[in-house]
Order: sequence, then C-alpha cells, then structure tokens
Amino acid sequence: MPYKHKIAVIGAGAVGASIAYACVLTKVPANVVMVDVDKRMVEGQVLDLSDVGFLSPVPVSVGTVKEAGQCDIIVITAGAKQRPGEPRSELVERNRTILKSVIDGMQPIRKDAIMILVANPVDVLTYLAQQLSGLPRKQVFGSGTFLDSMRLRGYLADKLQVQQNALHCYVLGEHGDRQFVGWSTANIGCTPLLSHPLMKDVDLATIERQVMRKAYEIIDRKGATCFGIGGCVASLCNSVLNDRRDVRPVSCWDEKHQVCLSTPASVGIDGIEEVLEMPLNEREQKAMDVAVKAIKDACQRYSN
Ligand code: LAC
Repeated sequence: MPYKHKIAVIGAGAVGASIAYACVLTKVPANVVMVDVDKRMVEGQVLDLSDVGFLSPVPVSVGTVKEAGQCDIIVITAGAKQRPGEPRSELVERNRTILKSVIDGMQPIRKDAIMILVANPVDVLTYLAQQLSGLPRKQVFGSGTFLDSMRLRGYLADKLQVQQNALHCYVLGEHGDRQFVGWSTANIGCTPLLSHPLMKDVDLATIERQVMRKAYEIIDRKGATCFGIGGCVASLCNSVLNDRRDVRPVSCWDEKHQVCLSTPASVGIDGIEEVLEMPLNEREQKAMDVAVKAIKDACQRYSN
C-alpha cells in the first residue's frame, strides 16, 4: 500500500466502478477500497481494475463496510438506480434504508472522515447522512449539481468554441428535476455570458432542459449513467486530499435555506471549506424556493 490515505467506495456497480476507475486514472493520492454486498461482483471489479495498474500507481482492493468507516474519504454510491423515465426523487424510500444500514455498519466512523454522497436523491440523502453519521456537517456533502454544471459547460463550450474551463456557470438547487441555471451570474472569462454575440440566438430554457434531461436520455439508451459522475467524484476526491479548494457546486448544508442543496462551495481537506452564496435574480430565486421546498419536504418525511 504506497499511500497513507484511503478512499472507500461503497457500492461497486457501474457508478462505483467508474469512480474507482477515474480515481486510478487521475492518480488520486490514495488507496481505493471497494465495498459491496455482492462479494463476487466486487472481486470481479477489483480484478478488472487491476488491469489498469500499468497506467497508474493507485491500488484498488476489496474491503468491508466496517473498514470503510476508517477511511479518509467514504464515497456512498450504494442504492437503487433510476428506471427509465423515473425521477431521482422516487428512489428516496429504498435508498434511505440502504444508507442507514451502510452508516450503521460503519460506526464508529473515524472523526475526521469526509463522506461524499452519490446515491440519489442526493440532496435528501446528504441531509440524512449528516444526521445519521454524527460527523460535522462540513465533512458530509453530495456530488450535487457538479455533474449537471459540467453538462451545461459542455453544451456551451461546443456552442461558443471555447475551453470548458473558460466558462463560469452553475446549475443550482436540486440534483433532479428542480435544478436551474444561474444565468444572471454566468461568465465567459470575465465577460457576462449573456452579452456574448453567439448567445443572442440561444434559447436558454432549451439548454436548461437539455441539461436537466441528459441523465434521462442516457438511462433510456444504456440503463444508467456512470462516466460523468465517475469523473466528478474522482475530481472531488482529488480536491479533498490535495486540499485544492476547488469551487464546485456540490450538495452541502445551506445555512440560508436550512437544507442540503447545490450551491458553489470550496472543497478542501476538511470537506466544505466555504459556502459561496450566489446572487440570484428574481426568476432564479423562485426556482431556488421551489427546489428548497421539495427537498425540505422529503427530508422531513424521511428523517425518522
Ligand atoms: C446523473 C446521475 C448521477 O445525473 O444522477 O447522471
């Protein structure tokens, strides 16, 4: 084991395996430990991943839920996945039960562990994990709308023919059907995005809907999404272990709205280092209120 840090990935299906694969390829400075109730399947994933050992020094092994509780980062992907056309919010009952059994099985969890929720509905599960784990709130966050924001950047980068990282724009609110784009603060370089000549003929609502629907399109065709989320979560693990303070729209406790939802936050060694409040125009604030209400209702319903 060449590294002192460990990342546990709980749930070794397509999403868990893609996260591990992206961690290996991006050379995250840690040992990756995969955990699943299906022993043979997780062994198969680890054997398969060992074949990329020639590209990366990151080792991947099989572990237990108990061991996961002692890792530096605990990534939770375990849970039912969406069926074609099914909204993420409908998974809450099934995935809350799985989350509770996973967290119970990890106790006592290492006090400085960082927990990253990936299973859906991620905003509600992040809130429940904050309650169940006993960890400080800043150490428990969800992948949130990071992936949706990268999908948005992808569309815009194609349209404007610029590098994705020149675009500063976020999908906010719920990682689900009640997400929205913060158009009023979007920039290309330092220039307001909406003042770019090529944006004049763009229908913002259409792009917003395409971004929101992208997971459905993928699930319709291949049954699940995995590569995008794999890349996003590996990037978050790198932000934490390298204390990078990258600003990402992740699902975290939002003091203002008293709920877990996606808003840009800097991510470092202690988890959420700072939540950066976004100025919202009237339309965006309305969309935020709708997302807040939906997430809050679900959190209240499933808290006990
Ligand atoms: C998606 C899943 C991760 O949006 O919710 O692809």
